[in-house]
Amino acid sequence: MSLNVVILAAGKGTRMHSELPKVLQPLSNKPLLQYVLDATQRLKPTTITVITGYKTELVKSSVTSRNVSWRLQEEQLGTGHAVQQAIPDLFANKTLILYGDVPLIDESDLQALIKKADLGLAILTFDNNSPAGYGRIVRNEKEITRIVEEKDCNNEEKKITEINTGIMACNTKSLINWLGRLTNNNSQKEYYLTDIVEFAVDDGLSVRSHLATEEISISGVNSKEELAQLERGLQMRKAQQLMHQGVTLLDPGRIDIRGELKCGKDVTIDVGCIFEGSVTLRDRVHVKPYCVLKDCEINEGTIVEAYSHIDSSIVGSSSRIGPYARLRPGTTLAENVHIGNFVEIKNSTVSQGSKINHLSYIGDSEIGMNVNIGAGTITCNYDGVTKHKTIIEDNVFIGSNTQLIAPVKVGKGATIGAGSTISKDAPQDELTLSRSKQKTILGWRKPEKK
Ligand code: UD1
Ligand code: CA
Repeated sequence: MSLNVVILAAGKGTRMHSELPKVLQPLSNKPLLQYVLDATQRLKPTTITVITGYKTELVKSSVTSRNVSWRLQEEQLGTGHAVQQAIPDLFANKTLILYGDVPLIDESDLQALIKKADLGLAILTFDNNSPAGYGRIVRNEKEITRIVEEKDCNNEEKKITEINTGIMACNTKSLINWLGRLTNNNSQKEYYLTDIVEFAVDDGLSVRSHLATEEISISGVNSKEELAQLERGLQMRKAQQLMHQGVTLLDPGRIDIRGELKCGKDVTIDVGCIFEGSVTLRDRVHVKPYCVLKDCEINEGTIVEAYSHIDSSIVGSSSRIGPYARLRPGTTLAENVHIGNFVEIKNSTVSQGSKINHLSYIGDSEIGMNVNIGAGTITCNYDGVTKHKTIIEDNVFIGSNTQLIAPVKVGKGATIGAGSTISKDAPQDELTLSRSKQKTILGWRKPEKK
């Protein structure tokens, strides 16, 4: 099949009250227009045209697209006028019209619509109990005769609940002919795309409709309220998919997946968690409340305790992270590792069985197996110019409140005494410490107020 897709995206979105063009407003971290472009690519069309108007350069540079022809509609004189700008690109024998602010379009609906356009024009409609604001589908007996805009409706027409979603597919040759016949003789003085319905009827061509399956798939966004409604709808849909796969969600209304979340068997996710980018939770992982996980992989049986943040990291199996832990990019933890509260790890590897349980910063480090890092340990990895590495070998015990001034290495089985500042390598199996001798000043008096 050969298909042109035209995406209308010229509007500013005045009701958003934002500097950002409406089609770039993010839904689940992704611009609205990107959803439409992604769905369009999956239809494998011959040509794709995006009609822009407001902040064209910003729109172009904010989405990823292949083989898109960008056409500027300098003045927004109506949906019909917008489609007219695409005429030079319309080579294929059918044309589908989509909207940059209707992001969650259903691909099976689109396929059905394109099929029905074989003989003329096909309109995606929806039966809406509160049709206010939409164009109404006017029928004579069963046949569609025209679409009338809300502002041009008489009282009878206002009662029609079958609405025009705006999405249409049609024969390209006819479309080009119809676009040439549009006038702006209506209450809004706009060139209405919807007027092509009457032209198709006049030409004796078939006008068919396809009823959209789900409201969310035809919903456009005009305000922040509508954007939030769509966000909730999308999140609920994602939550339902997870539950269908067997994931336990303590409250499907309190999870946000802004990207892709893959889950194994018997995964449990508590409330208030946010997943960004690409996250994998393997079998039996339990994520406790209010965690933020981005681009990471959590392996079998690991528990992520409340309020933990994990970014671009890999966590081994049977481990325990948090509460209040922060794993920054480049962290790789092996199995059975414990990371406790207020511990920050960056660009480091921690081997099997090691524990960093309280109040520590570990950066640019390699930590061996069965290492115990005491509370308040800090790797001083940055000298103000360059980052340096800390190596802590297997079975090391680092006493509390230790500073390790990188580059530095602590040999296998070594013990570092609490409160030490370690600036030279510590030999294996020995106790190393740097501490001034404790003394008591006898007879010392507290200062007194004069
Ligand atoms: C349009 C339909 C209406 C339908 C409704 C569904 C027409 C005349 N009416 O009405 O039947 O029920 O959509 O939401 O088509 N746009 C441009 N350039 C323009 C005008 C619009 O790119 O010159 C874009 C807008 O940015 C917007 C979309 O087209 O994304 C729809 O335009 P809008 O003016 O909101 O149409 P409606 O009045 O909602
Ligand atoms: Ca609209």
